[in-house]
Amino acid sequence: MKTVVVTGGGGFIGSHLIEALLEKGEAVICLDNLFTGVKKNISRFLANPRFEFIRHDIVVPILLEAEEIYHLACPASPVHYQNNPIKTLKTSVLGTLNMLGLAKRIQARILLASTSEVYGDPQIHPQPETYCGNVNPVGPRACYDEGKRAAETLMVGYRDYNGVNVAIARIFNTYGPRMVPNDGRVVSNFICQALRGEDLTIYGDGSQTRSFCYVSDMVDGLIRLMESTESGPVNLGNPTEFTIEELARTVLRMIPESNTGLVYGPLPVDDPTQRRPDIALAKRLLDWQPTVPLEQGLEPTIAYFREELGEDQ
Ligand SMILES: NC(=O)c1ccc[n+]([C@@H]2O[C@H](COP(=O)([O-])OP(=O)(O)OC[C@H]3O[C@@H](n4cnc5c(N)ncnc54)[C@H](O)[C@@H]3O)[C@@H](O)[C@H]2O)c1
Repeated sequence: MKTVVVTGGGGFIGSHLIEALLEKGEAVICLDNLFTGVKKNISRFLANPRFEFIRHDIVVPILLEAEEIYHLACPASPVHYQNNPIKTLKTSVLGTLNMLGLAKRIQARILLASTSEVYGDPQIHPQPETYCGNVNPVGPRACYDEGKRAAETLMVGYRDYNGVNVAIARIFNTYGPRMVPNDGRVVSNFICQALRGEDLTIYGDGSQTRSFCYVSDMVDGLIRLMESTESGPVNLGNPTEFTIEELARTVLRMIPESNTGLVYGPLPVDDPTQRRPDIALAKRLLDWQPTVPLEQGLEPTIAYFREELGEDQ
């Protein structure tokens, strides 16, 4: 049995990761300040003697004993990370610095949940790990994008100068149950609008593309990367590309009672026009590729939001 720290374990991906780690028989310490994470995501594990929750802000250093650190703590959706850009940068930069300091001290392997946003509005399609990106350092998404870029730089710095055992995962759009309703992410937006009987809002003309990875595939990729000796960065995401309009129409088809249509709004500043991971490296190094097709993953996601919105009423 290993002891594994998961920062951001109260959030969407983190709570699914904890579930998988507990199922594997590991002991898990979850560190989270519950900024976007919710107690309900954590309370489901509290009866497990191998689980421990520490409410902690990773901007402040902490001492723990563990063999592995999955470092996921950071708000991930624009409404949350733009709420306080300085805090977002502090979480990415100081938080990663603190977790790397801990990893160095206790000789743990540390995995950073980085993001496809390091590619910004990409000029190369699909994006391989060798692409350096096209990020506006003073745009509204910069606190997140540049924070993660700096976090990656810290990871390789600690690897090269301090011998820390690091791994960088560049996560592309991931969806599934336990996403927060109203967080502005396109999958949750569309599902919640359809369930409330509202028209689905498409920003731009809907021709911009995204690829959507179901959360169980993402968790599998993260664990494989941690269990490898690779430091990455390695792209993890689903390479099947959909236009935003295709996604909206799929959601409408799957929630037939919604009886709503589509409305169009202006495209946000610096919104990438296309995004698709090149996952050749993950296939080769980790023998990993997503297995859950969009409609199959949308089913439990819609069921989850149905329950969440029902509870709100
Ligand atoms: N979901 C995606 O599509 C996606 C895509 C790319 C990258 N990622 C990355 O994966 C990670 C998890 O994303 P998610 O979708 O689960 O987001 P989330 O917002 O659901 O989870 C993030 C968690 O981090 C916690 N947190 C934030 N700041 C903290 C701080 N200072 N100290 C301690 N805890 C803090 C939050 O409370 C929350 O529980 C993030 O690092 C994100 O950047 C996610």
